[in-house]
Amino acid sequence: MLTTNDMARNTKPHPILEKVLITDIAAEGKALARYNEKVVFVPHVIPGDVVDLQVVKKKSAYMEARAIHFHEYSVNRIPAVCEHFGICGGCKWQMLPYADQLHYKQKQVTDNLIRIGKIELPEITPILGSVKTEFYRNKLEFTFSNKKWLTSEEMHLGQEQNMNGVGFHIPGMFDKVLDIKKCWLQDDISNQLRNEIRAYAFEHQLSFFNLRSQEGFLRTMVVRTTSTGELMLIMVFFHEDEPVRIALLKHLSEKFPQITSLLYIINAKANDTITDQEVFVYKGSDCIYEEMEGLKFKIGPKSFYQTNSEQAYQLYKVARDFAQLTGNEVVYDLYTGTGTIANFIAHQAKQVIGIEYVPEAIDDAKENSRLNKIENTLFYAGDMKDILQEEFILQHGKPDVIITDPPRAGMHDDVVKAILFAAPKRIVYVSCNPATQARDLSLLDTAYRVTKVQPVDMFPHTHHVENVVLLELKA
Ligand SMILES: C[S@@+](CC[C@H](N)C(=O)[O-])C[C@H]1O[C@@H](n2cnc3c(N)ncnc32)[C@H](O)[C@@H]1O
Repeated sequence: MLTTNDMARNTKPHPILEKVLITDIAAEGKALARYNEKVVFVPHVIPGDVVDLQVVKKKSAYMEARAIHFHEYSVNRIPAVCEHFGICGGCKWQMLPYADQLHYKQKQVTDNLIRIGKIELPEITPILGSVKTEFYRNKLEFTFSNKKWLTSEEMHLGQEQNMNGVGFHIPGMFDKVLDIKKCWLQDDISNQLRNEIRAYAFEHQLSFFNLRSQEGFLRTMVVRTTSTGELMLIMVFFHEDEPVRIALLKHLSEKFPQITSLLYIINAKANDTITDQEVFVYKGSDCIYEEMEGLKFKIGPKSFYQTNSEQAYQLYKVARDFAQLTGNEVVYDLYTGTGTIANFIAHQAKQVIGIEYVPEAIDDAKENSRLNKIENTLFYAGDMKDILQEEFILQHGKPDVIITDPPRAGMHDDVVKAILFAAPKRIVYVSCNPATQARDLSLLDTAYRVTKVQPVDMFPHTHHVENVVLLELKA
């Protein structure tokens, strides 16, 4: 039961903090200010902004707040290029010049390695920026919904609205979708396809999905592009309606002859994931191919492929340089995904062994070796901590080099122990989360010295950063 005191405490409104200067950007891309020695995290602002803040959460160590009035805008602010900025969950850093984005990403890497790693570090090389800062993604998924998000202008129109929309989920609202007119993340063909499908659906009165009531025909669409010019469109429907489906797919194949793989799925499940769904070919091939240094990589509708192909190439080149291969090495590629790194380095190694959790990804990795006539790779599917054990290492030969590219959570303790047992001369650690990377580096510090650090930006206008570290066995 609540006491009167509790009730009084619970109902006390959070304070408003006046004229606060935003001073920095911290981990996970959150902007922050300091107020009475306490850190305040604030979204949608940048260092240099002076704002009044409505506190929304108060903890003993920090506060969270939102800006309710701007007194001054940072001199560094630039206008966002996208009309959906501020509502859409993507590209949150568009108001920061790209050079500043890179500065804060570099800082994120340095801060994490120093604060969490607590290890001796070499000079951290300046971050490799992305050549393309717009239209850099090769894959986007758009969701159809009959509950589109109404912008404030639309709300004030005072007339009945068409509530069907196709675009991205509003952050934190699983059934609301922002109707996207132009997205700056993928080649413009992606906008043309989405906008044409919307127009066709309106004209032919096709229904848009309602996730709560599980009704509607059009569910999601996925566009995948490649540097080779191949184009995949996957249309996902909630139920089969053959004449209507065929009419739409025929219209799209005629209007967009550049689609090389036109696929569809009937997903009658409650959720949107397509990994467990059968994929049908309407027209063209069942896959597309990406190329890198003359190597071909097969991309099926469910395959993982790094979403910024050009920066993935930069990242892989850094990893390969750090590995310093001469052709005589046994290399383990941990968390190999579809084996892209393993196949990319195979010509410079004696043997490459890739390990990955997802069996379908391992099938793709093997297929990519076959496709490129690479014969010195071996791939294993399973949980890393269960596969990478002493017996496995002794059976396959101790590696000269380990390349590891774990998910955001970093490596399991047992995996770190197995790496220490394997004792390769070099470890190349690729990470999408410098905090967990720093933790793992400190665990490896007993036997390894960090000798190179190279951050890479794969996702302009977001706070995400990749980091490649070279560790060398201590003498
Ligand atoms: C960052 S991705 C690696 C991508 C890959 N190196 C590439 O460039 O395409 C991490 C991979 O680790 C896999 N993974 C996650 N947890 C795992 C585990 N416990 N054991 C093995 N693989 C795991 C994921 O399925 C994913 O493919």
